[in-house]
Amino acid sequence: MQVYRSVRSLAKKVSEIKKRNKTIGLVPTMGFLHEGHASLVRKAKKDTDCVIVSIFVNPAQFGPKEDFKKYPRDLKRDLDICKKEDADIIFVPEAKDMYPDDYSTHVSVEGITEKLCGASRPGHFRGVTTVVTKLFNIAMPDIAYFGQKDAQQAIVIKKMAEDLNMDVDIKVMPIVREKDGLAMSSRNVYLSSSERVQAASLYKALRLAKRLFDQGEKNSGKIISKMKEVIGKEPDAKIDYIFIVDIKELKAIKKISGMALAAVAARVGNTRLIDNIILRQRPRIGRF
Ligand code: PAF
Repeated sequence: MQVYRSVRSLAKKVSEIKKRNKTIGLVPTMGFLHEGHASLVRKAKKDTDCVIVSIFVNPAQFGPKEDFKKYPRDLKRDLDICKKEDADIIFVPEAKDMYPDDYSTHVSVEGITEKLCGASRPGHFRGVTTVVTKLFNIAMPDIAYFGQKDAQQAIVIKKMAEDLNMDVDIKVMPIVREKDGLAMSSRNVYLSSSERVQAASLYKALRLAKRLFDQGEKNSGKIISKMKEVIGKEPDAKIDYIFIVDIKELKAIKKISGMALAAVAARVGNTRLIDNIILRQRPRIGRF
C-alpha cells in the first residue's frame, strides 16, 4: 500500500497504471473510516485492478456554522483499515493542494441539490460535486464507489457524471448498520450514550415505513406521520425532514407505485444524522 500526499504525485502514478491498462476503483472518503467504507474497498478490490482510497475532509462542502473543524480525524487508524482491506493506494492531499489560493472553479448540479439535505445545507452539494470532479480527474477511476446512506449525494453524483459525460461508472453500495440498525457514519462518534440509543429511532421509523408499505399502505402522508411518531418519542431528536421521493428527481410522491426512497434527516442532540430505505413493490407471483 502506497500513500500519496500530493495531486501531482498521484497523477503521475495514475498515468503509469493507465499505461499498463489496469482498471482503477476509487473510494472517495473524508476519513475516520468505518465498516461502511471498508465494504466499499472490498467491492472495489473485487471489481478493479487497483483501488485508490482518498481521504480528504473537504472544506468546500461544510457550511460556515458546520462541523468542519471538529470533524473526526484519525489518519493512522484509517491507514490501518485500508491496509487490512488491501487497498493499493491512499491519497491524502492537503487542502492547499486541492484548493490553491487562486482557486475559482466549481461544479454544480441544479434542481435535485436544492431538495432534502440541500435545503438545510446550502452549498453542500456544490462542494461535494466540485471535489468529486477533482478526484475523478486526478484518480481517473473506471468505477467510483459511494454508500447508499448518502442517497441524495449518490443520485447527485450519478447525475453529474451523466450530464458531464464523465467516463466513470458510479456504484452505490448498501448501507452498513450497527447491531441496533443505526447507519454507520463517521459522525456517530459525536453522540452521547443516551443520544446513541435515541439515534436508532431513525432506522426504527424507516423499518416501520417499509412494513406499512409492504402491508399495502401506499399513501406517503400516512406513512410519514407514523414515522414522525416514532422519532418524536425521543426527547433529544428533532426531525429536519422526512420525505418519500422518486429516486431520480427526488420529487415528493403522494401515492407510491413502483419504487420510492423514504429519506430522513434528524438532529439527535447536536448531531445531524441521515438515513433512508428503498420502498419497492414486490413482484407479483402468479397471475393474481
Ligand atoms: O461522502 C463523503 O464522505 C464525501 O461527501 C465525499 C464523497 C468523500 C466528498 O468529499
